[in-house]
Amino acid sequence: MTDFHVADISLADWGRKELTIAETEMPGLMALREEFGKTQPLKGARIAGSLHMTIQTGVLIETLKALGADIRWASCNIFSTQDHAASAIAAAGIPVFAYKGESLVEYWDYTHRIFEWADGGCPNMILDDGGDATLLIHLGMRAEKDLSVLSTPTCEEEEVLFASIKKRLATDKTFYSRNGVAIKGVTEETTTGNVDVITVEHMRAMKDRAIVCNIGHFDSEIQVAGLKNFKWHNVKPQVDEIEFPNGTRIILLAEGRLVNLGCATGHPSFVMSASFTNQVLAQMYIFCNPGKYEKKVYVLPKHLDEKVAALHLGKLGVKLTTLSEKQSSYIGVAVEGPFKPDTYRY
Ligand code: ADE
Repeated sequence: MTDFHVADISLADWGRKELTIAETEMPGLMALREEFGKTQPLKGARIAGSLHMTIQTGVLIETLKALGADIRWASCNIFSTQDHAASAIAAAGIPVFAYKGESLVEYWDYTHRIFEWADGGCPNMILDDGGDATLLIHLGMRAEKDLSVLSTPTCEEEEVLFASIKKRLATDKTFYSRNGVAIKGVTEETTTGNVDVITVEHMRAMKDRAIVCNIGHFDSEIQVAGLKNFKWHNVKPQVDEIEFPNGTRIILLAEGRLVNLGCATGHPSFVMSASFTNQVLAQMYIFCNPGKYEKKVYVLPKHLDEKVAALHLGKLGVKLTTLSEKQSSYIGVAVEGPFKPDTYRY
């Protein structure tokens, strides 16, 4: 099979070993394979996926495949691919287009390729983190008329305080920007997602060799473009030192893009299992109910969230007991759930 582009296909065995380990940490996805593998609810689904090509995403992809889907995949960020994961997926016969450190030109080429089925067909579902595959649809990329788009939430964690960056400039060594998520234990306060949150002027005022990074998706939260005219010294992949005219330097990680995947391995498997089990259930929910949905944004029904939670409890050593009839009528909640109102955010 040549319908893929990865850094080095010989990394596939290493990737397969880590995929196998991750499977034991992703109980929700494995339970879906077990429950739905036989009935193949995603048979006929052609999914174009644009999501960080990591080991955890590999387990997601193979779960979608186990449920019958036909899949093409690209990463949604130029730095987030784990090359051994991409190779293992390609070696398993799934077209994947991604390598760590790909250029932006390659990035868009690969995003295009997830729409181009070898038999001339096109996708009928998109799984999109970041919105770039969806953007191509808006620009006229060929896809089935009733295409469904599934986006992952970008804020998996909690809202935080807005920081006053200036007041911390003289003391802090590390500056984070993240869409609505606190990086606890690193700084007390963080800045939240918008463009120009950390400006060139902020960076010029920082202590020598302050570390600047961003865990959000886009390098526009930190004014990276405004740094281009200063002196850049590459220390190693995804680590650059930028020198200002007065001689002070900052250390910029992953060129101001999502640092957790650019400079490390992202969220652990168990956390991603909760998010991805939700994704798979949503894909099934949409695909198995054709014509049910208008073109608008839907929030997944609570009972699917609760199913995801239930599938992960065993691994944590938690046993979920069932409400008795008396208990259920006492709190006015059905025995089988949903246990919370639609407005509740788990
Ligand atoms: N987002 C954050 N961590 C991730 C991971 N390990 N895989 C895919 N997407 C992620």
